[in-house]
Amino acid sequence: MTVLVLGGAGYVGSHAVDMLLKRGYDVAVVDNLVTGHRESVPANVRFYEGDVRDQAFLADVFEKENIEGIMHFCAYSLVGESMQKPLMYFNNNVGGAQVILETMEEFGVKHIVFSSTAATFGIPEKSPISEKTPQKPINPYGESKLIMEKMMKWQSQATDMTYVALRYFNVAGAKDDGSIGEAHKNETHLIPIILQTALGQREFITIYGDDYHTPDGTCIRDYIDMEDLIEAHIKALEYLKAGGQSDQFNLGSSKGYSNLEVLETARKVTGKEIPSQMGERRAGDPDELVADSTKAGEILGWKAQNDLEHIITNAWKWHQSHPKGY
Ligand code: UFG
Repeated sequence: MTVLVLGGAGYVGSHAVDMLLKRGYDVAVVDNLVTGHRESVPANVRFYEGDVRDQAFLADVFEKENIEGIMHFCAYSLVGESMQKPLMYFNNNVGGAQVILETMEEFGVKHIVFSSTAATFGIPEKSPISEKTPQKPINPYGESKLIMEKMMKWQSQATDMTYVALRYFNVAGAKDDGSIGEAHKNETHLIPIILQTALGQREFITIYGDDYHTPDGTCIRDYIDMEDLIEAHIKALEYLKAGGQSDQFNLGSSKGYSNLEVLETARKVTGKEIPSQMGERRAGDPDELVADSTKAGEILGWKAQNDLEHIITNAWKWHQSHPKGY
């Protein structure tokens, strides 16, 4: 039986493929290579290049593979871009989920674990954020993921399919040998930009605002290590296979770091000065996003193991060994 990894050539998907293989799972990958990299998936893994919105293509993959469960990572995920191109987000994220769920039903595939996001919560009234916190997204990206959660919920009620939605907080890090990692065309995320500055590829990092309601005035985020994140997906899949009911979990370390604290940690890890300057606020950034991951501990037996220093250490290995990405 095979785990089908949708978006397996992307940043998170490629790490999932790597860990699934290490754990002895049989794996097949689907990716349209729009943001993914073929080089991030081992050459001997069965690879189907195509788009999940293409029903005939996806049905052909389901025909060929004996699928026990799906991990779904193929969605657009940039908040800023989603504000500029909302329909592109609904088309890919919601439209993709629809075809995936229809194909699962057609072929009797029962389980799916998929990436949701802290962005479904919008600006939460209190922190940390638990699964009981109301979901009120403030951008099309978060909205598209919330719609995906709801599609899964209704479909699971109507059929015998079960799902787990994993709401990621800020994912960072890389495989511990630095062989796969984060490579976006136009990087917008804090840690990779800091490390590109450490490499001298950028003159300085601009920190977006120091007038937030936080102790040092910069935004606070909860960073989750890639390895911990994938562990949660494997536990979620096993939970579903064992008959667990459909559910949602917030995944973070339950510890927040301000943007300045992240920068300081990167200076310590890299031993580089990393020039920085203070800039204006970036639109749509909530003051603080920290996860309460108690529920994932209770039901999945999952807890984040790795701290920010570990995350940056592995990300630094990747950036040093792949300064131009793949
Ligand atoms: N930041 C800077 N300078 C930069 C880049 C980022 O100061 O050059 C700041 C941002 O303003 C923010 C923090 O660093 O305060 C983190 O920003 P990221 O862009 O790294 O990440 P986000 O918190 O915006 O978003 C990420 C994912 C989303 C997900 C969210 C959940 O990209 O998909 O985490 O917390 F929804």
